Amino acid sequence: PQLGRAPQGDFMRPTGRTLRAGSEARANGVGVQAEDTRICVVMVGLPARGKSLIAQKVVRYLGWLSITAKCFNVGSYRRTNTPNPSASFFDTSNKEGERLRMAAAEEAVKDMVKWFQSPDNLIAILDATNSTKTRRRWIKDRCDAEGIETLFVESKCDQEDLIMANIKEVKLTSPDYEGQDPEEAAQDFRQRITMYERVYETLDEDESDMTYCKIINVGSQVIINRIQDYLQSRVVYYLMNLHIKPRSIWISRHGESEYNLSGQIGGDADLSARGQQYAKMLPDLVSKSAGDLPLTVWTSTLKRTAQTARHLPYEKLSWKALDELDSGVCDGLTYADIEEKYPQDFKARDEDKYNYRYLGGESYRDVVIRLEPIIMELERSENILIVTHQAVLRCIYAYFMGSSQEKSPWMEVPLHCLIKLTPRAYKTEEERMVANVPAVSTWREKGSAAVHAEATPNPSAMGTPVIKPEEKA
Ligand code: ATP
Ligand code: F6P
Repeated sequence: PQLGRAPQGDFMRPTGRTLRAGSEARANGVGVQAEDTRICVVMVGLPARGKSLIAQKVVRYLGWLSITAKCFNVGSYRRTNTPNPSASFFDTSNKEGERLRMAAAEEAVKDMVKWFQSPDNLIAILDATNSTKTRRRWIKDRCDAEGIETLFVESKCDQEDLIMANIKEVKLTSPDYEGQDPEEAAQDFRQRITMYERVYETLDEDESDMTYCKIINVGSQVIINRIQDYLQSRVVYYLMNLHIKPRSIWISRHGESEYNLSGQIGGDADLSARGQQYAKMLPDLVSKSAGDLPLTVWTSTLKRTAQTARHLPYEKLSWKALDELDSGVCDGLTYADIEEKYPQDFKARDEDKYNYRYLGGESYRDVVIRLEPIIMELERSENILIVTHQAVLRCIYAYFMGSSQEKSPWMEVPLHCLIKLTPRAYKTEEERMVANVPAVSTWREKGSAAVHAEATPNPSAMGTPVIKPEEKA
């Protein structure tokens, strides 16, 4: 018998809107695609207000939820005609500068409209300062004419120290200032901001017909106007939860369990003796990495994660959403059992592991959907340590690192290894710390023999001691 199937389209949520004529009902993380759900998110704000960072995060978040999004950065278009402008280029009395900037904006909008011709493409981010009412009206009119909704997102910030920190963090390494003295570059960028300040118009009641969201001083105040549909509100809700305080997220799988030893999947087993040893070592491993930082520990509701976290001296919270991928009727079997009993399923899962859903269970795609509130809470939080399971960890990791759906379900995450993720502007840094406690390897290569505990050499384990099945206790 074949048990599972690719679940695409199985978890549609009605949106109450018309489906695009002639197209099949398609589903993604947030429901059926409606005819009018093509959205252009138009960034608004002075330079160094985090617009590009916000744009990139939104693209990564939506991509993780299987919503195709793309950022069109007007600065990159402008660099094709003016690679290293000085501040005077942005002076509005500089007619040639104005012409070249408008040309760059037109090119970006043209490419965006073309990109929207593909029915899979749902959300574009137009990343520029878009700092005047005239410019914003022009964009809205262009989008209206193409049947594309607009959502203006303004980042407004008047904290001078934060702006200077932003300039130092990201602007001095911009291709605009390649090879230039950092001090002079910082001054020029400050001067560029002054040019924009002269003409900058914040979103206000004159634009009350527009859909917009104004984020003031990194979310200390948020003003929203005319949010029209589910997808827009999802984007706005995400934006409302972002913060930029420095912090890290630590993730670890639970210690080796009795089921890991026997090669069984799923279940609610206790830790093995070595798993308990890892649990004992974990506080030390964490404090070596986190020092005195206050942490909160999140576990799943399954025994092996609570047992792993039991010696950690921090506040703990258990989440059902962090439980391991539900393997349905295959729960408690070994991979070898599944291959023998359900060879077609075994093959089907290898062919499309992200979408394959166990009968009565879940797919990776399902796990991503149920993890969405976890991601939202993580965005709101500061330092969190998550003790969870292989598949769940892969999905969380994929969100932060932007890994593809093709690759993420196959990612190697050895047992007894602590991963530290530190979000920085435009990228997430990763560090792995391996505890010196042996554990079986639960990683199975695509198409390989289904031996759960096979000790394949594992390059990303970085020296994790791995025992061979015959050496097992
Ligand atoms: P430009 O108009 O020059 O392209 P920008 O507004 O796109 O500038 P970014 O390049 O995204 O600015 O700036 C990134 C910096 O902004 C990072 O240091 C980040 O921490 C910070 N940042 C992120 N979000 C915000 C926010 N809401 N307000 C102010 N700064 C922010
Ligand atoms: O100055 C910041 C910047 O990102 C430039 O790199 C880019 O040319 C410009 O903003 C795009 O915004 P606008 O077209 O509104 O000037």
